[in-house]
Amino acid sequence: MEFSTSARRAAPRLLVTPSGLRVSLTGQRPAADTGGSTCRARCPRSAPLRTGRNEGALRRTASSGPGDRVKSTEGSVHDFSGRTVLITGGTRGAGLGTAEEFLAAGANVVITGRDQGRVDRVVQRLAEEHHDRVDGIKAHVALEEDRYMSIALCLSKYGALDVLFNNAAVNPHVGPCVEISDSAAQKIMEVNVLAPLGYVRQAWDMWMRDNGGVVVNHASISGWAQVHPVTVYGASKAALIYLTQGLGAQLAPRVRVNAVAPGTIETGFADWMYQGREEESAAYYPMRRHALPSDVARAVLWLASDESAYITGVVIPVDGGMMGYGYPDPYIQGLGRV
Ligand SMILES: NC(=O)c1ccc[n+]([C@@H]2O[C@H](COP(=O)([O-])OP(=O)(O)OC[C@H]3O[C@@H](n4cnc5c(N)ncnc54)[C@H](OP(=O)(O)O)[C@@H]3O)[C@@H](O)[C@H]2O)c1
Repeated sequence: MEFSTSARRAAPRLLVTPSGLRVSLTGQRPAADTGGSTCRARCPRSAPLRTGRNEGALRRTASSGPGDRVKSTEGSVHDFSGRTVLITGGTRGAGLGTAEEFLAAGANVVITGRDQGRVDRVVQRLAEEHHDRVDGIKAHVALEEDRYMSIALCLSKYGALDVLFNNAAVNPHVGPCVEISDSAAQKIMEVNVLAPLGYVRQAWDMWMRDNGGVVVNHASISGWAQVHPVTVYGASKAALIYLTQGLGAQLAPRVRVNAVAPGTIETGFADWMYQGREEESAAYYPMRRHALPSDVARAVLWLASDESAYITGVVIPVDGGMMGYGYPDPYIQGLGRV
């Protein structure tokens, strides 16, 4: 269904966010504004860098799962003050790690997830440190109405949508390609390909066409190199890479569209790849470790910043050098054999 202007008018006019805020969906920049121009992405301001970020500021925490392990506790090399970032799938893993990095860099951040309780808990935790700059909404990326509501929340509460991080993805199948069900394959394509495309289209319609912006898609090196047990997932990431290149060219110069392509990130999403064989798996990476959410987050922030103002339609590997070797882990590749 096209989300036409009339359909947009038919969308709910009042939204109650997980943080309890009631917002009317006027789509107007509120008076208590983020300030500055309405075309920041087209007219990049000179990036006011706070240099010298201390790597020691990143600490491991023993909290709730691998995706939560790295948390920024000090400032960022970037300054996203007054900019608003929407992160799909921000309740854990790389999405949450990126939300933390953007918050540390001064941005307003809206996260999404499929479960209201989980979104609420994460927003509440992030709000302890960044209380007026973080919000969240239950929004399934494959549902057009949910996408609309999440973008509308950015516009209603913060008056802009400067950065869209298309991060959420699923992979319900591990094994040979010929054993995947139609429904699993369909879900992979809907969530990992059509939803990011839908988000870009709606972000363009609702804000970015007139005001500029930046999109970062979360691809994967499996979109370039065969990882046999997840070939259909890899095909979805290959499609996302292709879309990134096309959208980067088509939406320039107003909107930049780029992607990050990690190898293994230590999150719940990929733990089946390395659990019980961490050292062996990490040894396949020239950098001798898997990525952490913060590794991905830093690449996303750079792509979202004015430091990359002339870069669009590209995919940056965040893979510890893995692409130099193809995907060499025989254990993983063996899982894809019949
Ligand atoms: N982990 C890796 O090794 C790896 C490698 C390369 C690329 N990636 C990419 O990294 C991205 C993030 O993965 P991750 O490792 O951080 O995974 P994760 O820890 O499982 O997190 C996935 C996030 O996506 C959300 N999500 C899933 N389906 C959704 C949907 N339909 N609508 C809205 N939100 C949804 C989840 O939220 P709820 O569960 O709360 O809904 C969660 O916040 C994905 O694009 C993945 O393909 C991961």
